[in-house]
Amino acid sequence: AAIMRASEVKNASFIGKEVTIRGWVHRLRKQKENSFILLRDDRGGVIQCVLPTDKAAGLTIESSVQVTGIVSQDPRAPEGGFEIKGKELKIFNIAAEYPIGEYQSDELLLDKRHLALRTRKMIAMAKVRASVLHYGRRWFVENGWMEVTAPTIVKGAVEGGSTLFKLRYFDQDAYLSQSAQLYLEAMIFSLGPVWSLTPSFRAEKSRTVRHLAEFSHLEAEAPWVTLEDILKVEEQLVSYVIQNTIKERAEELEFLKRDVSGLKKVEPPFERVPYGRAIEILRSKGFQVTEDDGTKREIQFGDDLSIDSERELTKDADKPVFVVGYPIAVKPFYVKEDPEHPGIGLTADMLAPRGFGEITSGGQREDSIDSITSRMVKEGLKPEAYEWYLDLRRYGSVPHGGFGLGIERLVRWITNAEDIKDTVLFPRTMSRVEP
Ligand code: 4AD
Repeated sequence: AAIMRASEVKNASFIGKEVTIRGWVHRLRKQKENSFILLRDDRGGVIQCVLPTDKAAGLTIESSVQVTGIVSQDPRAPEGGFEIKGKELKIFNIAAEYPIGEYQSDELLLDKRHLALRTRKMIAMAKVRASVLHYGRRWFVENGWMEVTAPTIVKGAVEGGSTLFKLRYFDQDAYLSQSAQLYLEAMIFSLGPVWSLTPSFRAEKSRTVRHLAEFSHLEAEAPWVTLEDILKVEEQLVSYVIQNTIKERAEELEFLKRDVSGLKKVEPPFERVPYGRAIEILRSKGFQVTEDDGTKREIQFGDDLSIDSERELTKDADKPVFVVGYPIAVKPFYVKEDPEHPGIGLTADMLAPRGFGEITSGGQREDSIDSITSRMVKEGLKPEAYEWYLDLRRYGSVPHGGFGLGIERLVRWITNAEDIKDTVLFPRTMSRVEP
């Protein structure tokens, strides 16, 4: 007979029938006559199996087994009231003493992440994450954007030098990519609207609940688009991903105790708040910023927004908010200056509601070679190092734009995860490069 999974077996039509299921001993209770195994299948579904204790005697937590038996219904059986009265037990491996118990510190769970992937929480997270990736890809396919990939070993900084990982590349220095943007910009001249999902690397020295050293970066770029066109893409994409994910993963989100009523309201349009207005709002609330030397002062026009200011702006919202038109001084060299508002960039960040903070950043790109070269120099970058990129402004430059979205930031908001490390299977942070 075919091997089944727990979710298939837990069905009234199987009561009284013989089934075979494979998996791992998730929980185990041995009594004198019978042993109760909560079996976890390879998709994280669980079902109780009852076996005579003499047969199950050698079993341990995480032993891998195959059970054949008769499906019955018993209201006392956990996780849905179905159980399998086991007749045959095949053992693949008797697990050594399992290092993860029921209550464990976060640190131990991170040290043993290769095993912690078997916890119900991580299984639920992985499934939500899979849906976010799936529906993200689907949105682009359905809307006619071409999928591409860009190299992750590169020569030049995109997002500034302070977070670059340097590496020895044969006999020269190179870096791990912070963003595929510059490569996507090169592709739009012949491939039109393109998008990619690649790892981005940031040597973030700060330990925060929203920074990883390696994250999954979904980026898009298109020719002949305005800032407003880009914002429309972002709000449609994010709404589509969220609505489909909360439908497909209702069970997992419930397990994670995520109340999805706020997420259900996420649909276009998202509010656009001019940067200057955001600063006014923060000033009216007496919002302060901390200088590098520790002194505090009131926030003012020209300051970048911190996670605290982002929280203040979004704490009562259900939908994300776009903060539009940051000063170019706080943004990278490629941001196009608004011809009507000198000093202001045609750029916007999408801030997730309730303090989850920035999840996307994008806008129009500087398309004039003179402006972009002088911006590079102002930022301390060497234009010679960007020769190929500057070619894009020499040969048929067009107005264009795009954005980047951090998958883990989005998953963190959708799952209400406390820490971004929970949203990725093998997190990389300043203090963790293993397992
Ligand atoms: O704001 P960022 O740095 O923008 C760029 O890299 C652009 N070049 C993207 C583009 O326009 N193609 O990063 C974009 C997004 C952020 O909004 C955030 O969601 C995520 O990437 N991100 C991080 N996520 C996790 N950990 C980090 N250290 C992140 N840094 C950025």
